[in-house]
Amino acid sequence: MAQRVDIDSHKIIEVYSPATLEKIGEVAVNTPSEVGAAAARARQAFRVWSSLDIKQRSEIMLTARDSFVSRREELIELICAENGKPRLEALVEITYVCDIITFYAKQARRFLSPQRVTPHLLRNKKVTVHYQPRGVIGMITPWNFPIAIPSWKTLPALVAGNAIVFKPATDTPTLGQRYVELLVEAGLPSGVVNIVHGGGGKVGEALVRHPDVRVISLTGSRETGVAVLKAAADGLKHVHLELGGKNAIIVLDDADLDLAVEGIVWSAFGTSGQRCTAASRIIVQRGVYDELQSKLVSAAEGLRLGVGWEEDTDVGPVINQSALEKIDSYTQIGKDEGAKLLTGGEVASNDGLEKGFYYRPTIFGDVEPGMRIAQEEIFGPTTALIPVDSFDEAIKAGNGVKYGLSSSIFTRDVNKAFRAMRDLDTGITYINAGTIGAEVHLPFGGTKDTGNGHREAGQAALDVFTEWKSIYVDYSGRLQKAQIDTAE
Ligand code: UN1
Repeated sequence: MAQRVDIDSHKIIEVYSPATLEKIGEVAVNTPSEVGAAAARARQAFRVWSSLDIKQRSEIMLTARDSFVSRREELIELICAENGKPRLEALVEITYVCDIITFYAKQARRFLSPQRVTPHLLRNKKVTVHYQPRGVIGMITPWNFPIAIPSWKTLPALVAGNAIVFKPATDTPTLGQRYVELLVEAGLPSGVVNIVHGGGGKVGEALVRHPDVRVISLTGSRETGVAVLKAAADGLKHVHLELGGKNAIIVLDDADLDLAVEGIVWSAFGTSGQRCTAASRIIVQRGVYDELQSKLVSAAEGLRLGVGWEEDTDVGPVINQSALEKIDSYTQIGKDEGAKLLTGGEVASNDGLEKGFYYRPTIFGDVEPGMRIAQEEIFGPTTALIPVDSFDEAIKAGNGVKYGLSSSIFTRDVNKAFRAMRDLDTGITYINAGTIGAEVHLPFGGTKDTGNGHREAGQAALDVFTEWKSIYVDYSGRLQKAQIDTAE
């Protein structure tokens, strides 16, 4: 069985489906010098690509969109096999990719137009602020959205004129490969997007440290984020980090409980809880605690585990053996801490599920906000019910973690909803909806340890992939000495 550990010592990454443990492919691991060659190719291609106008770049992207639409079935099957997520979620992922392409290809002209064409302080001068591409961008992406997150990063980078060296997760390398192939088939000039495979220790590090790579955009764990920042420091690289979450859904006494249960189930167990936006804490006011608990447990027990390609599967496998072990270890941690295991808490080992990495949707009750299961990112189908007495206590518990990605509150009280929008310290807040999901035109990212202040998606993504350039045009025909002339 392929263990995704110590991949740096391997020459080949063998790809096994988490759904069935069958081998579905393999890719060659690159050496650090091959990473350097990819960066050099990108640097060459950057000259060509950045010299095309925005319309030419956007048209190639829209052609790629057509390929993703026409290859939708093939891609859904590959996502179900390689990542394990259910068919519906795979379809959502492809739809999302197409939307990302359309959005950036069509908005690029507006986003990249010169900003602030203003009169200068002096006469007969004009000043403008332009965006310019940064050059070669290194991208390191996770396996949970194996083509959506690469799209999220590559599209704004490409329309702005950058070239890319892309390292997909070692658990989903063939999806990364397919993603790049479809871009290239659409007419992307050779070398504009380059893929390298391997683990973080060698290939990732070589990418981050390469002098031609000016920007690193990473979606991954907090630990990887810190390692990337350190490795990038010597080269003064621009680093964009999208890291973990420990997202809470607050349910107040006046909430629509059925709606809340739907939101919780989707946010805690969708993608088997393997989203940085997943709801791994449910903070519940005591007046509805018992009722919410019993509705939630019965909804979780009604979920069907299975292979993603079967239509009636609600929850697929987790990504690999070490994820399964980590999730299971947190069940033991929760029990040891004195939380009450309400359902799940075990590896699924019957009805053929023993052939994959399946973990039963798990709910702990009577959880204290300071317990490890309420503080640490588990990245699996485990959620913790935390009882509280009041709205203020709920907000305090909600904010009492190191991460700040997504948050949610279910209430019918408009005043409390608005206070929550203001007081929840996260980059994303939902009212009467779960914590997961993202729309491409809105900035995506978090506060505190979730990142380093950048946002993905929307126009905000261009902050990562472009430099501002201030241009002064003097048509006075004489040397104007600032301030002195105006003072005269
Ligand atoms: C979503 O919740 O739909 O890795 C998006 C992640 C996030 C994307 C989540 N970067 O889970």
